[in-house]
Amino acid sequence: MRTVNCYSNYRSLVTGVDTKIPLINGQLTTAINLDNAATTPPFLSVLKAINDFSSLYASVHRGTGYKSQYVSYIYEDSRRIIADFVNGCPEKDSIIFVKNTTEAINKLAHHLKAKFQQSVVLSTFMEHHSNDLPWRRHFDVDYVAIDSKGRLQLEDLERKLLQYKGKVKLVAITGASNVTGYKNPIHKAAALAHQHGAQILVDGAQLVPHAAVDMKPHSSPEHIDFLVFSGHKMYAPFGTGVLIARSDMLEGAAPDIVGGGTVDIVTPDLVTWAELPHKEEAGSPNIMGVVALVAAIKTLDGLGMRTLEEYEKALADYTIYRLCQLRDIEVYCSNDYKEDRVAIVPFNVSGLSHHMVAKILSYEGGIAVRNGCFCAQPYIQRLLGISQQELEERINQPKAERPGMVRISLGLYNTISEIDALVFQLNKIILNKKYYLEKYSNMPELF
Ligand code: ALA
Repeated sequence: MRTVNCYSNYRSLVTGVDTKIPLINGQLTTAINLDNAATTPPFLSVLKAINDFSSLYASVHRGTGYKSQYVSYIYEDSRRIIADFVNGCPEKDSIIFVKNTTEAINKLAHHLKAKFQQSVVLSTFMEHHSNDLPWRRHFDVDYVAIDSKGRLQLEDLERKLLQYKGKVKLVAITGASNVTGYKNPIHKAAALAHQHGAQILVDGAQLVPHAAVDMKPHSSPEHIDFLVFSGHKMYAPFGTGVLIARSDMLEGAAPDIVGGGTVDIVTPDLVTWAELPHKEEAGSPNIMGVVALVAAIKTLDGLGMRTLEEYEKALADYTIYRLCQLRDIEVYCSNDYKEDRVAIVPFNVSGLSHHMVAKILSYEGGIAVRNGCFCAQPYIQRLLGISQQELEERINQPKAERPGMVRISLGLYNTISEIDALVFQLNKIILNKKYYLEKYSNMPELF
């Protein structure tokens, strides 16, 4: 295992790292947040940016006042900053502001259904529901296989592309799994997709905040055609997400949401749509969300994505190493340090439900984790080795707990000592299962 600095000054960049919360025994403790895949706390730079900006706040594209013109300029210029961050191409791509990754993928699915009629979308068995259900709604979907550790099988992608003989028009793949943290070989997948006449969407919700992402030039076989991500997972939780999409795939068609801002001309009998990206941004733009996202990107860029990637990888390796040393814990991702991953680690404690473990960590240790299926039920089902029949039987038992896991997901501000605190609590839980089972069997929620 590689060594990792016990201290990083990234902590001073993030809000809430010193917040005191009460434990079940009434004592106050410093909250430990190991649930960054769900959402991240804001950077102080983000709060400062939106606070500074507020004195100039006005409507975007809807006024001739000084402030309105200024914020419209800031809003438009943000597209370039965002494209630069992931090496998008503003000349050929539309950078569209949406609420979040889910909305971005739904919007893309709406447009591609008209462009790619009668075609197949290849998703994978490791996707978040948001990169599966929008495709099911409009297309025939097939899924690229994963191996016994939950890793994508690139050979199966190639096999399926060959098998469908050009019918696959889109490969929709996560950049990094929100369950196991595995990073997918997105450029290899892109090259394969393009070789077989398909385009590729990368769900960057868990990748863009934690790794350097390069969409590569349109002329490259490894180019990423579509990239989506969310501000609230990258230290800018103010309601903005991004869809970066080949403009030619969005041109012409009516937008998915219509109304103010999406149109050029409207008469009782006629509607002509505005140019891209405006036709895709219905209603008043969320300029504060965009200012927040740009501030977060500038902070991340200043720190260096490769440096952050390395730090978080070392934290992940340390976490996996410590968890694997504990008895009665099953970790559901590979413990190979060569694995390309973001810092997400799923596990269970034998004899205790995922919900109970998460609750005990919270109530006894002030440690926040997520438990359940993380909006990726087919993936969890496979990682746990649960057959369809078993699943249905469990769902039909009124009191049976749904299958699931406990998930640790780290951000740049987490530290080795926080992992040590987690391991300390888990060890206590493992050594005192009977006691905790009795204590927590009927424990109500806090609020
Ligand atoms: N998709 C987010 C997660 O994995 C909400 O927790």
